[in-house]
Amino acid sequence: MRRWNRWNNLPLRFRLTFLYVCLLGILMVVLGALFYYDVRSFLIDSTATRLRAQAKPVVDEALQNLGSESDVTGISENLSRSITSRDTTAVILDADGGYIADGRTLEEEAPPVPPNAEYVGRALGGDNEVEYIDTASFEERMLFLFIPLRSAADNDEVIGAIQLNTPLTFTDELLSQERLLIVTGVIVALVVGTLGGFWITGSALAPLRRMVATCRRVASGDLGERVNLPHRKDEVGQLAAAFDDMAERIEATFASQRRFTADAAHELRTPLTALGGSLEVLMRGSKDDPEAMNRLIQGMHRETLRLGRLAEQLLDMSRLEAPMATNYEDISLAKFFEEFSSQAGHLAVNRNLVLEKGPPDTKLHADPDTFKQALFNLTDNAAQHTPPGGEINLGWSEENGSIEVWVADDGEGIPPDNIPHIFEPFYRGDRSRSRRRGGAGLGLALVKNITESHGGKVHVESEEGKGSRFTIAVPKGFRPLRNGSPRKLPEG
Ligand SMILES: Nc1ncnc2c1ncn2[C@@H]1O[C@H](COP(=O)(O)OP(=O)(O)OP(=O)(O)O)[C@@H](O)[C@H]1O
Ligand SMILES: [Mg+2]
Repeated sequence: MRRWNRWNNLPLRFRLTFLYVCLLGILMVVLGALFYYDVRSFLIDSTATRLRAQAKPVVDEALQNLGSESDVTGISENLSRSITSRDTTAVILDADGGYIADGRTLEEEAPPVPPNAEYVGRALGGDNEVEYIDTASFEERMLFLFIPLRSAADNDEVIGAIQLNTPLTFTDELLSQERLLIVTGVIVALVVGTLGGFWITGSALAPLRRMVATCRRVASGDLGERVNLPHRKDEVGQLAAAFDDMAERIEATFASQRRFTADAAHELRTPLTALGGSLEVLMRGSKDDPEAMNRLIQGMHRETLRLGRLAEQLLDMSRLEAPMATNYEDISLAKFFEEFSSQAGHLAVNRNLVLEKGPPDTKLHADPDTFKQALFNLTDNAAQHTPPGGEINLGWSEENGSIEVWVADDGEGIPPDNIPHIFEPFYRGDRSRSRRRGGAGLGLALVKNITESHGGKVHVESEEGKGSRFTIAVPKGFRPLRNGSPRKLPEG
C-alpha cells in the first residue's frame, strides 16, 4: 500500500515514460527471441537437408552394387569415402550398429567419436529423420544425422546406416552476429524510447504544469490570471479552456459581490447619517420646540422603517444567492391570483387593480411564497410609478411552451437608458431616488433571482409616459434540481 502511494506520488512524466519503456522492452525482447529461434532452427534444418540431399545420389548408386546377401561391408569403404568431404564426415554402421568404415584417407586423422547408441538405434529402427546436435565432444557444435540403408527402396528391412556429421561453425557465427544485432537493437530502442518518451510526455504535460502554476496564482488572489491555450484543441486544451472559463466566472462573481457589498454599505449609511443628524439636533436641545422635535422623531421613524426594509431585502437576496431552498408545488394560477389580488389591494390604494384571468386550469410548478414575493414587488413598483386613478393590470396566460405572468401599469414608464439597469441590485431611477419613500433598488433584482430559480426569464416593455409591462415567463415542464425547506415571505 505504502509502496503504491509512493509510485503514485512520482511525477506523471516519469511514470508514463517508465511504463511505456517497460512495455517497449518486453515487446522487443519477445519479438527478438522469437525471431532468433526461428532463424536458428531454419539454419540447422537447411544444413541437415543439404547434407541429406548431397548424400542421396551417392547412396542410391552404391546400393545398386550391393550383393544379394544384403551385406553393406563390401560397399562401405567406397561409400564413406565418396560422402566424406571437407566439412562432412561419414561413418558406415552395420545392421547391429557396429562400426564398419569411415571416410578417413590418412591414418593421422583423428578417429570419429563413437556413434551415440540411442540415435543409432532409432535410425536402424527405420526412422529417416534422426538428427541431434552434440555440444560437448568438440570445440564447436556438431550436427549429427543418420540415413538408414535399405537393400531396395520398397524394402522395409534396414541393413545398416550412415552417420553424417558436420560442424555448425558457419551457422553459429551467423547466429552470434544475429544475437549481437538483436541485443544492440533492443538497447538502442530502449534508450531512444526513454529519451523520446520523456520528451513527448514532458511536452504533453507542460500545459498541465502551467495550469498548476496559474491555479496557484488564482488561489492566492490573482483572479485575472488565465492559462490561455487557445490553439490546443485536445483534452489538455479543453481542460485549459474550462479552467479559464471558471476563472472568468469566479472573477465576475467576486467583482459583483464586491460591488454588492459596497452598494449595500452605501445604502445603509444614508439612513444612518440621517438618524445620527436628527439625534444630534435633539440632543442639542430642540426639546423646547415640540413641533420641531415631533418632525425629527417622525423622520427618524421613517429612516428606521427604511433600514428595516433594507435589512429584510438584503436577507432575502442572500437567501436567494445561497443554493435554492424552496418548496415547490403545483399551484393553480386562478386560485393564486384570486388570493393575491385581494391581498395586494392595500399596495395599490387609489389605483385600479384589474385581474385579467387566463386559462382557469393553468398550473405552475413553483414555490408559492417566493413567487408571491416576485408579484408583490412588481405590483408595488407599478403602484409607485402610477399616479392615483391609474390602472394596474395583472394576469396570466399560456404561450407556446411557457406560462406567462404579467403586471402592467399605465404610469410614467421607464426611460430607455434605464431599462438595461433596472434589474441590477441597488439600481434606482432618478425619479425614485428623489422620492421620500426611498426604496433600496432591490425589488427587481429579487424578481429576477426568483424567476431564474424557477427556470424562467423576466422582461420589460415600457414607454415613457404610457406605462410599463413586466412579464415573467416560465417553461411549462420546469422542475427544480432539488427541493429544500420552505421560505418565509418577508413582511412588506
Ligand atoms: N412599473 C414601473 N414604472 C416605472 N419605473 C419602474 C417601474 N418598476 C421599476 N421601475 C424603475 O426601476 C427601478 C428599480 O426598481 P426596483 O423595484 O428594483 O427598486 P425600487 O422600487 O426603487 O426599490 P425597492 O423595490 O427596493 O423598494 C425603480 O427605481 C424605477 O426607477
Ligand atoms: Mg421596487
